[in-house]
Amino acid sequence: MEQLAKQVDGLTLEAVTAKYPNCHPEINPFDLYRAHVADVLANITGVDNQLIYPNLQWTSGLEKGDMVLAVPSLRVKGKKFDELAVEWADKFPENDPLFEKPKVTNYFLSFFVRPVPLIQSVLPMIQELGAEFGRNRFLGLKDPQNTESERKKMIVEFSSPNIAKPFHAGHLRSTIIGGFLANLYEGAGWDVTRINYLGDWGKQYGLLALGYEKYGNEEALKADPINHLFHLYVRINADMAVEKEEIDKKKAAGEDTTALEADSLDEQARRYFKKMTEQDPAGLAQWKRFRDLSIARYKETYARLNIHFDEYSGESQVSEESMEKVAKEMEDKGISKEDKGAMLVDFSELVPGKEGKRLEKPLVRKRDGTALYLTRDISELLHRSEKYSFDHMIYVVASQQDLHLKQLFKIIELLGHKEIAAKCQHINFGMVLGMSTRKGTVKFLDDILRDVGEKMHETMKKNETKYSQVENPEATADILGISSVMVQDMSGKRINSYHFNMEAMTSFEGDTGPYLQYAHARVSSIRRRAGLSDQDLASADLSLLTEAHAANIVRLLALWPDTVSNTLRTLEPTTVLTYLFKMTHALSSSYDHLQVVGSERELMKARMALYNAAHIVLGNGMRLLGLSPVDR
Ligand code: ARG
Repeated sequence: MEQLAKQVDGLTLEAVTAKYPNCHPEINPFDLYRAHVADVLANITGVDNQLIYPNLQWTSGLEKGDMVLAVPSLRVKGKKFDELAVEWADKFPENDPLFEKPKVTNYFLSFFVRPVPLIQSVLPMIQELGAEFGRNRFLGLKDPQNTESERKKMIVEFSSPNIAKPFHAGHLRSTIIGGFLANLYEGAGWDVTRINYLGDWGKQYGLLALGYEKYGNEEALKADPINHLFHLYVRINADMAVEKEEIDKKKAAGEDTTALEADSLDEQARRYFKKMTEQDPAGLAQWKRFRDLSIARYKETYARLNIHFDEYSGESQVSEESMEKVAKEMEDKGISKEDKGAMLVDFSELVPGKEGKRLEKPLVRKRDGTALYLTRDISELLHRSEKYSFDHMIYVVASQQDLHLKQLFKIIELLGHKEIAAKCQHINFGMVLGMSTRKGTVKFLDDILRDVGEKMHETMKKNETKYSQVENPEATADILGISSVMVQDMSGKRINSYHFNMEAMTSFEGDTGPYLQYAHARVSSIRRRAGLSDQDLASADLSLLTEAHAANIVRLLALWPDTVSNTLRTLEPTTVLTYLFKMTHALSSSYDHLQVVGSERELMKARMALYNAAHIVLGNGMRLLGLSPVDR
């Protein structure tokens, strides 16, 4: 980049970093190009360069240029915008070292970079930055202008399944999206803490303990805690249903059922759980074992998705005292009120207009004094704020819980913590429809991954020659299966629901996970067959890359850091995925034109340097999404 800057009079990396906000050409080539255009246009137009810089936008495709300016965005008065566009384009220097003369379409100016200097600067930069290319540690600084300043603190709460209950589509999506968001912020220099807020508390865990007493099996528990606990939970719930039916029948027949009810499973579960909340050692120890064993198993599964958590929190971790405290505070501040012995928040009395009605009247305390899901979330949020003093917290939870999170944030605000509420954000998402497999409805994450892995293995076997080249087909099928599920999930906007389509997601055709992996593996294989060293690549004569195909790949590569910063705005995995597929399409159409193996040595080196940079960027993008790129 230094070299590139030197080609322009008076341009230095330090100068543009000082001049423009978040401008770091040493990690983002586009920043230098943007700064240069802003400088030149400021001279031509007389508009403040600070206004020009942020208005230089990406284009929707390379054929539209590398950067575009909508003339009206500069708010120059007195002339027609399309006339201004022509006038400014005319004044743009013919011999600019970085850009060709801009093209005019209506009131848009499209800027096309000159390929030679771009290629010469971007490829070595990617080679050198490697895994760092696309990361931007400056964004997470409390003071972005001061590199010594502290990093901002981010909490991402995601996955959050319920112990002894199925891991449903909502948890799957939360896991995928949350893992990605945590990576995204980490790459942007934030100090990220990943929290899994388990559903692990409530009367149902008293019932589960009864189920274990009745049907539990130590061996089965240890071997497969998640399935065993679920099995117990289902059985004991069935017993309870039968019992309830009998009691109802007797009641209907006019019999006295008081004694039966006092000894019912439901009542026993309630008493058991009550003891747990009163710190009964035996009950707690048992429950803790269920929880620990489940977590240990979850961890293995999360590891397959390249996910780890810094904290396994959960509903059980919210203390009774802290809930007493907020309950009292809510009452004192007139936020909650009594209703038939229970406590509720009537938002219509607290928040004016339609919003108040929309927030409804959630309960925060039951008649028997037990706290609820919402109450626990209130205490937990305040606790996290104290423990981490976060700058931002994201809850990755299905859109079915939109209301719940709105209520939560509003109560925090009403409690007088407006500034904390402002730091919290609900990242929601739509549903997965028809998530079932050949073996029936999916219950656990492991089942989903096993099924797609098997399906993928079948697909791979269809191509015998290629199949025989894969060293460990099971392991590869497993990774490809995971990629299938993840890419399908991240293909659309988060809020859209989609159909779980095993056939489509495991195909090598179309913009799928396996195709993305194939594209990555293909570049790896070229590198293997070329047999060139890193030094060969570093010494390559890049001026040999004269084809439009090469230039287009580099133009896309140069856009990667900007794609990541744009993703920080959209918070949509599809922003990254769309970019990666553009990249793979550009690559696949280039192979016929840019042969590596079989070309003369110097040409081979130059082209390999190009493909190697593409390999780095594809890999970085895939890892950001949480995928494990395969090389074969
Ligand atoms: N365990 C909950 C469920 O399965 C999700 C928890 C979401 N997070 C929260 N802080 N409420 O529905």
